Amino acid sequence: MVFFTIECEIKMPDDSYNLPSKFVRPLINMALRFTFPLLNFRRVPRRWDPIGKINSYKVKKNQVIFECQNGFLEIVFINPRIIRIRASPEPLLIHNSWATIEPKSKILLQVSEKGEFYFVKRKKKSSKEPLQVAIRQSDCTITVIRDNEEILHHEVESIAWSRRGSWVRCQKLSPTQEQFVGFGEKTGPLVKNGEQMIFWNSDPTTYGKDDEPLYQSEPIQIAIRKDGTAHGIFYDNPHYSVIKISEGKQGTTDYYSERGPLCYYIFAGPTIKEVIRQITELNGRLPLPPRWVLGYHQCRWSYSPEERVREIAEEFRTRNIPCDSIHLDIDYMDGYRCFTWSPERFPHPQQLLEELKDKGFKTTVIIDPGLKVDHKWPLYRECIEGDHYCKLPNGKPFVAPVWPGKCVFPDFTHPSVRKWWGEKFQELLDVGVEAFWLDMGEPSIFSARRTAPDFVRHNMNGWEGDHRDAHNVYGQGMAIAAREQLNELRKKQRTFIFVRSCYAGIQRYAASWTGDNRSNWIGLQQSIPMIINMGLTGQPFVAADLGGFEDDCTPELLARWYQLGVFYPFCRNHSAAGTANQEPWVFDREIEAIARKYIELRYQLLPYIYYHLWKSSQTGLPIMRPLFMEAPNESNAYDSKWLDTEFFFGKSLLIAPILENIPEGVEVSSREVYLPKGVWFDYWTKEKITGGKTITVEAPLDHLPLFVKAGTVLPMAPVVQHVEKTKKHPLILELFPSKKIRGKVYLDDGYTKDFKDEKYQLLSISGEQKEDSMSLTINSKGKLEDLPTTSNKLLFRIPQEKIPEKVIVNGKSITKRTSKKKNYWQLDQTNKLIEIHCPKPNFPLDITLDFK
Ligand code: GLC
Repeated sequence: MVFFTIECEIKMPDDSYNLPSKFVRPLINMALRFTFPLLNFRRVPRRWDPIGKINSYKVKKNQVIFECQNGFLEIVFINPRIIRIRASPEPLLIHNSWATIEPKSKILLQVSEKGEFYFVKRKKKSSKEPLQVAIRQSDCTITVIRDNEEILHHEVESIAWSRRGSWVRCQKLSPTQEQFVGFGEKTGPLVKNGEQMIFWNSDPTTYGKDDEPLYQSEPIQIAIRKDGTAHGIFYDNPHYSVIKISEGKQGTTDYYSERGPLCYYIFAGPTIKEVIRQITELNGRLPLPPRWVLGYHQCRWSYSPEERVREIAEEFRTRNIPCDSIHLDIDYMDGYRCFTWSPERFPHPQQLLEELKDKGFKTTVIIDPGLKVDHKWPLYRECIEGDHYCKLPNGKPFVAPVWPGKCVFPDFTHPSVRKWWGEKFQELLDVGVEAFWLDMGEPSIFSARRTAPDFVRHNMNGWEGDHRDAHNVYGQGMAIAAREQLNELRKKQRTFIFVRSCYAGIQRYAASWTGDNRSNWIGLQQSIPMIINMGLTGQPFVAADLGGFEDDCTPELLARWYQLGVFYPFCRNHSAAGTANQEPWVFDREIEAIARKYIELRYQLLPYIYYHLWKSSQTGLPIMRPLFMEAPNESNAYDSKWLDTEFFFGKSLLIAPILENIPEGVEVSSREVYLPKGVWFDYWTKEKITGGKTITVEAPLDHLPLFVKAGTVLPMAPVVQHVEKTKKHPLILELFPSKKIRGKVYLDDGYTKDFKDEKYQLLSISGEQKEDSMSLTINSKGKLEDLPTTSNKLLFRIPQEKIPEKVIVNGKSITKRTSKKKNYWQLDQTNKLIEIHCPKPNFPLDITLDFK
């Protein structure tokens, strides 16, 4: 295999990579557009042999194995709502998944014969079966049925193996019209009907509208019907794969993978929320990150030297722009050697990080997989002496260029390599690093192919394999190494890790971001469907580089990107070296004020976001939600016009950002917003609007169309400069009244793992608004008595439609005056609010407002 480095790469004296100029980079990107597909993309074979007719079958507890003319089919019920189907020309071995954690199943199965079909279902009789499978005896085609009658899909052609090579194939037809969503990190619209997608982790250097594939592989398909029913399929095969979805009314899905066995899981749903719960029951859920992670993150390639980092930190604090973390990109390292600090640029890292900490900043650092070939460097020597590297077929290290020049690559598919590597994080923890950013795990290599060649050997958890087996899970292995060892190294504290490259199931090890997008309107627009689809596939905590990575951001774009970006689950501004700076203050006062306003809004919404983050860790449900998740019975909720441009943030907020620049000759931007049915409040004016219709909203540069569902209790915090400062402030419960009022708050200490022993406060607020009164009940759950991360005070804010005669808290009428220790209420005439102050609340807490 010819292996060559990029022509225009400039060598530094120590052999490390020097960034090509802004003018050369587009040329490299253009060249890669040709070389990349040529060297990576595989042709799906034309000639196939089907699995053939069924000869016999065996039932073993929750598993049935069919022996067919040309292979084997296995059906396993993981639970009544999740089944696994595998097929192979050879007898099936155990399933080695890089994604799933299959629970032990107690289900017993039975096979019955009806006409030309075998039916596989649970032995236990029930009038409705969440799932059962019918298999035609003559050709082994599979039909999946829900609730005993509804066909989810059936195969148009039998499962088959390619005549040449070792590809596997299955082809399904949905009898009902469905929209297909999910599939992880993909460009393009949210709904993927009519698209062909490749699953092969790739670093495209930067990407635009149609670039594909990107850094991650999550072959998880969710079929959603317009009545709100949904089911899912996860093709659990990390090899090079292709999913092709037809455009027609009756959707066919063709799935091909370069190596077998064929393995897929079916999730019964029947709602989109249930499908996500089931996917994450199997593939795991996000470990709750520390609370500060929800703050704003500032990054750039690279803040260097130390003085520049101090300057950035200082700017945030003097300008009163909240920020919780500064990220250090590759230049903090010594010649891009992992786990080191540059003696010239970062001579006193510990001192620097302490100073940052004193100012309320956590430091996040990048780590790449390539280890510089440097015989004087102990880590390189350890890697070689410990036999920890990815190998050539002759056993020698595979060497290829990345940032540090020639590198070897730890074999993260080997358990003992993961342990060795993971322990190295202690060195960074010792210096005071709080969070880790794992990059380049495709693995990205500076060659025309951009990754390792197929012949490179990997351990594959003892199963031995080549790079075709390892490629899509290499980044996953890197994340597992960090997560498992950081769990050991920090037994009490939670650690935040995020990655670029990964496979399905990554959420139980790390969060992620969407790589090197561009500073243009398309970059802004595509972040919505991309992050939503990643959430639907199981990853609830994702960022796109706010402001865009490649190219120069403009003032208008940055303003609009802040308005959207503060609603990304994970909010980080990041840009490439050589592009224009894009910190909040770099343009003018107007843009700075807009950035501040929206970052502050995120900090105000922190208790709301923290509840949803916790919810994601419990149920898998993401905070950034497509319209059909919260409004499943409305046809507009399935229309791409709205799906790709607005979204629910949790259950109660609707975000409709401005995604285009202001047209020439127009004075004020505006957009159409579809407001789902029900009553809504404009967040800014508190004006009531009836939903179920499209409205036009004017949006001058500082305005984001933002709506709150009536009946919401929005838990909020005052603006603080970094998350830990909320400790001095009350928990604000802002009411958006309706007949029925509901809200939830989750609070814990924000950084330890004590919440696992129920050391938290989970508040459920429910209430009613009547003609002459309003009542609220707040129940609490969890072992903590106080309200952690607050001043242990509740502050209710209720719109002042009428002035109460009496306010009663737990049966006692409270006074309308200030006394810091006791409950009291007052009118905030400026904001037209009734405020009820409850220091040291005892739960359950009952509040009645009497307006008679
Ligand atoms: C990759 C990352 C980017 C980072 C750069 C330098 O391109 O995607 O975020 O800034 O490498 O480390």
